[in-house]
Amino acid sequence: MEELKKAAAHHATSYVKDGMIVGLGTGSTTKYAIEKIGEMVKDGLHIKGIATSRETEKLANEAGIPLVPLNEHDIDVTIDGADQVDGKLNLIKGGGGALLREKMVASCSMKEIIVVDESKIVSSFSFPLPVEVVKFGWESVAKKLRAFGFTPKLREGFITDNGNYILDCKYTSIENAEEMETMLNSIPGVVENGLFVKLADVVVVGTKGGIKIIKSNL
Ligand code: 5RP
Repeated sequence: MEELKKAAAHHATSYVKDGMIVGLGTGSTTKYAIEKIGEMVKDGLHIKGIATSRETEKLANEAGIPLVPLNEHDIDVTIDGADQVDGKLNLIKGGGGALLREKMVASCSMKEIIVVDESKIVSSFSFPLPVEVVKFGWESVAKKLRAFGFTPKLREGFITDNGNYILDCKYTSIENAEEMETMLNSIPGVVENGLFVKLADVVVVGTKGGIKIIKSNL
Protein backbone atom coordinates (compact mmCIF):
# COMPACT_ATOMS: atom_id res chain seq x y z
CA MET A 1 0.00 0.00 0.00
CA GLU A 2 2.87 2.39 0.73
CA GLU A 3 4.07 2.03 -2.87
CA LEU A 4 0.60 2.95 -4.19
CA LYS A 5 0.43 6.00 -1.92
CA LYS A 6 3.91 7.05 -2.98
CA ALA A 7 3.12 6.61 -6.69
CA ALA A 8 -0.04 8.74 -6.41
CA ALA A 9 1.76 11.45 -4.45
CA HIS A 10 4.71 11.55 -6.85
CA HIS A 11 2.38 11.74 -9.85
CA ALA A 12 0.53 14.69 -8.31
CA THR A 13 3.74 16.72 -8.10
CA SER A 14 3.66 16.97 -11.92
CA TYR A 15 0.94 19.63 -11.44
CA VAL A 16 3.42 21.83 -9.54
CA LYS A 17 5.08 24.43 -11.79
CA ASP A 18 7.61 27.22 -11.32
CA GLY A 19 6.27 30.33 -9.57
CA MET A 20 3.24 28.63 -8.02
CA ILE A 21 1.80 28.96 -4.55
CA VAL A 22 1.30 25.35 -3.46
CA GLY A 23 -0.96 24.11 -0.66
CA LEU A 24 0.64 21.25 1.23
CA GLY A 25 -1.78 18.77 2.79
CA THR A 26 -1.30 16.55 5.81
CA GLY A 27 -0.84 12.81 6.24
CA SER A 28 1.26 9.84 5.27
CA THR A 29 0.38 10.03 1.54
CA THR A 30 0.96 13.77 1.18
CA LYS A 31 4.30 13.31 2.96
CA TYR A 32 5.65 11.63 -0.19
CA ALA A 33 4.58 14.64 -2.27
CA ILE A 34 6.25 17.05 0.15
CA GLU A 35 9.51 15.10 0.01
CA LYS A 36 9.38 15.05 -3.80
CA ILE A 37 8.61 18.79 -4.01
CA GLY A 38 11.56 19.35 -1.68
CA GLU A 39 13.80 17.56 -4.21
CA MET A 40 12.31 19.68 -7.03
CA VAL A 41 13.11 22.84 -5.04
CA LYS A 42 16.69 21.66 -4.53
CA ASP A 43 16.86 21.20 -8.32
CA GLY A 44 15.87 24.84 -8.87
CA LEU A 45 12.05 24.97 -8.76
CA HIS A 46 10.76 28.23 -7.24
CA ILE A 47 7.52 27.82 -5.35
CA LYS A 48 6.04 28.94 -2.06
CA GLY A 49 4.21 26.41 0.10
CA ILE A 50 1.28 26.87 2.46
CA ALA A 51 1.15 24.21 5.19
CA THR A 52 -2.14 22.74 6.43
CA SER A 53 -0.73 21.65 9.81
CA ARG A 54 2.22 22.03 12.14
CA GLU A 55 3.30 18.52 11.14
CA THR A 56 3.41 19.57 7.48
CA GLU A 57 5.17 22.81 8.38
CA LYS A 58 7.93 20.74 9.98
CA LEU A 59 8.15 18.36 7.01
CA ALA A 60 8.27 21.25 4.54
CA ASN A 61 11.00 22.96 6.54
CA GLU A 62 13.04 19.75 6.58
CA ALA A 63 12.50 19.36 2.81
CA GLY A 64 13.65 22.94 2.18
CA ILE A 65 10.32 24.24 0.84
CA PRO A 66 9.86 27.96 1.60
CA LEU A 67 6.56 28.58 3.37
CA VAL A 68 4.19 31.54 3.51
CA PRO A 69 1.09 31.91 5.71
CA LEU A 70 -2.36 31.50 4.14
CA ASN A 71 -3.39 35.15 4.53
CA GLU A 72 -4.76 36.55 1.29
CA HIS A 73 -2.88 34.23 -1.06
CA ASP A 74 -4.67 32.56 -3.95
CA ILE A 75 -3.32 29.04 -4.09
CA ASP A 76 -2.52 27.66 -7.54
CA VAL A 77 -2.58 24.01 -6.58
CA THR A 78 -2.96 21.99 -3.39
CA ILE A 79 -1.97 18.37 -2.91
CA ASP A 80 -3.72 16.64 -0.03
CA GLY A 81 -4.78 13.16 1.06
CA ALA A 82 -8.18 11.81 2.08
CA ASP A 83 -9.60 9.04 4.23
CA GLN A 84 -12.31 8.16 1.71
CA VAL A 85 -13.45 9.43 -1.71
CA ASP A 86 -16.95 8.71 -3.02
CA GLY A 87 -18.28 8.51 -6.59
CA LYS A 88 -19.07 12.25 -6.64
CA LEU A 89 -15.52 13.10 -5.50
CA ASN A 90 -16.78 14.13 -2.10
CA LEU A 91 -14.26 13.35 0.61
CA ILE A 92 -13.97 12.38 4.22
CA LYS A 93 -10.87 13.97 5.72
CA GLY A 94 -9.51 14.57 9.17
CA GLY A 95 -8.09 11.16 10.06
CA GLY A 96 -4.92 13.11 10.84
CA GLY A 97 -6.90 15.82 12.63
CA ALA A 98 -5.98 18.68 10.27
CA LEU A 99 -9.41 19.08 8.65
CA LEU A 100 -10.02 22.73 9.52
CA ARG A 101 -6.81 24.10 8.01
CA GLU A 102 -7.08 21.60 5.15
CA LYS A 103 -10.59 22.80 4.30
CA MET A 104 -9.58 26.47 4.54
CA VAL A 105 -6.64 25.85 2.20
CA ALA A 106 -8.79 23.76 -0.19
CA SER A 107 -11.38 26.53 -0.34
CA CYS A 108 -8.66 29.01 -1.42
CA SER A 109 -7.16 26.66 -4.04
CA MET A 110 -7.72 26.93 -7.76
CA LYS A 111 -6.93 23.22 -8.13
CA GLU A 112 -7.33 20.71 -5.29
CA ILE A 113 -5.57 17.45 -6.03
CA ILE A 114 -6.31 14.50 -3.78
CA VAL A 115 -3.83 11.64 -3.54
CA VAL A 116 -4.99 8.23 -2.34
CA ASP A 117 -4.40 4.53 -2.79
CA GLU A 118 -7.21 2.52 -4.35
CA SER A 119 -8.55 1.22 -1.00
CA LYS A 120 -9.96 4.69 -0.26
CA ILE A 121 -12.27 4.87 -3.27
CA VAL A 122 -15.75 3.87 -2.06
CA SER A 123 -19.33 3.88 -3.31
CA SER A 124 -20.61 5.12 0.04
CA PHE A 125 -18.79 6.51 3.06
CA SER A 126 -18.01 4.34 6.08
CA PHE A 127 -14.94 6.02 7.65
CA PRO A 128 -15.85 7.58 11.04
CA LEU A 129 -16.45 11.27 10.36
CA PRO A 130 -14.04 13.54 12.25
CA VAL A 131 -15.76 16.59 13.74
CA GLU A 132 -13.63 19.33 15.32
CA VAL A 133 -15.34 20.86 18.36
CA VAL A 134 -14.36 23.48 20.93
CA LYS A 135 -13.36 22.06 24.31
CA PHE A 136 -16.02 24.03 26.17
CA GLY A 137 -19.11 21.85 26.58
CA TRP A 138 -17.99 19.26 24.05
CA GLU A 139 -20.27 16.64 25.67
CA SER A 140 -23.29 18.80 24.80
CA VAL A 141 -22.18 18.77 21.16
CA ALA A 142 -21.71 15.00 21.35
CA LYS A 143 -25.30 14.70 22.65
CA LYS A 144 -26.60 16.69 19.66
CA LEU A 145 -24.58 14.51 17.29
CA ARG A 146 -26.14 11.42 18.88
CA ALA A 147 -29.59 12.93 18.27
CA PHE A 148 -28.66 13.12 14.58
CA GLY A 149 -27.85 9.39 14.57
CA PHE A 150 -24.06 9.58 15.01
CA THR A 151 -22.04 7.69 17.59
CA PRO A 152 -19.33 10.19 18.54
CA LYS A 153 -16.13 9.17 20.31
CA LEU A 154 -13.64 11.64 21.71
CA ARG A 155 -10.21 11.19 20.10
CA GLU A 156 -8.30 10.49 23.32
CA GLY A 157 -5.21 12.58 24.02
CA PHE A 158 -5.52 14.57 20.80
CA ILE A 159 -5.70 18.35 20.52
CA THR A 160 -5.87 19.95 17.08
CA ASP A 161 -3.44 22.64 15.92
CA ASN A 162 -6.26 25.07 16.70
CA GLY A 163 -6.56 23.91 20.33
CA ASN A 164 -9.79 21.93 19.85
CA TYR A 165 -11.02 18.36 20.30
CA ILE A 166 -11.97 15.85 17.61
CA LEU A 167 -15.05 13.64 17.86
CA ASP A 168 -14.84 10.63 15.53
CA CYS A 169 -18.44 9.91 14.59
CA LYS A 170 -19.69 6.52 13.43
CA TYR A 171 -22.91 6.39 11.38
CA THR A 172 -24.97 3.95 9.38
CA SER A 173 -24.99 6.01 6.18
CA ILE A 174 -24.51 9.54 4.87
CA GLU A 175 -27.14 10.00 2.17
CA ASN A 176 -26.54 13.63 1.27
CA ALA A 177 -23.00 14.81 2.05
CA GLU A 178 -23.71 18.44 1.19
CA GLU A 179 -26.71 18.70 3.53
CA MET A 180 -24.88 16.80 6.26
CA GLU A 181 -21.84 19.07 6.04
CA THR A 182 -24.01 22.17 6.44
CA MET A 183 -26.12 20.64 9.20
CA LEU A 184 -23.09 19.62 11.26
CA ASN A 185 -21.50 23.05 10.99
CA SER A 186 -24.72 24.66 12.22
CA ILE A 187 -24.36 22.99 15.65
CA PRO A 188 -22.95 25.56 18.10
CA GLY A 189 -19.56 24.29 19.28
CA VAL A 190 -18.72 22.53 16.02
CA VAL A 191 -15.75 24.24 14.41
CA GLU A 192 -15.60 22.15 11.23
CA ASN A 193 -16.35 18.66 10.00
CA GLY A 194 -14.46 16.28 7.75
CA LEU A 195 -16.95 16.20 4.86
CA PHE A 196 -15.34 17.95 1.89
CA VAL A 197 -18.03 18.55 -0.73
CA LYS A 198 -17.28 19.84 -4.25
CA LEU A 199 -13.73 20.76 -3.26
CA ALA A 200 -11.70 18.08 -5.06
CA ASP A 201 -10.84 18.85 -8.69
CA VAL A 202 -8.62 15.86 -9.41
CA VAL A 203 -8.16 12.58 -7.55
CA VAL A 204 -4.93 10.72 -8.26
CA VAL A 205 -5.37 7.08 -7.31
CA GLY A 206 -2.49 4.68 -6.87
CA THR A 207 -3.73 1.27 -8.07
CA LYS A 208 -1.97 -2.05 -8.57
CA GLY A 209 -2.48 -1.48 -12.31
CA GLY A 210 -0.90 1.99 -12.28
CA ILE A 211 -2.05 5.56 -11.75
CA LYS A 212 -5.72 6.38 -12.32
CA ILE A 213 -6.88 9.99 -12.64
CA ILE A 214 -10.45 10.96 -11.75
CA LYS A 215 -11.47 14.51 -12.64
CA SER A 216 -14.41 16.44 -11.26
CA ASN A 217 -16.99 17.31 -13.91
CA LEU A 218 -18.33 20.27 -11.92
C1 5RP B 1 -5.53 14.70 7.74
C2 5RP B 1 -6.17 14.13 6.55
C3 5RP B 1 -5.38 13.15 5.75
O1 5RP B 1 -5.23 13.67 4.47
C4 5RP B 1 -6.11 11.86 5.72
O2 5RP B 1 -6.30 11.42 7.05
C5 5RP B 1 -5.35 10.80 4.92
O3 5RP B 1 -4.15 10.52 5.55
P1 5RP B 1 -3.17 9.36 5.07
O4 5RP B 1 -2.61 9.80 3.75
O5 5RP B 1 -2.15 9.27 6.16
O6 5RP B 1 -3.99 8.10 4.95
O7 5RP B 1 -7.29 14.43 6.22
O8 5RP B 1 -6.40 15.54 8.44
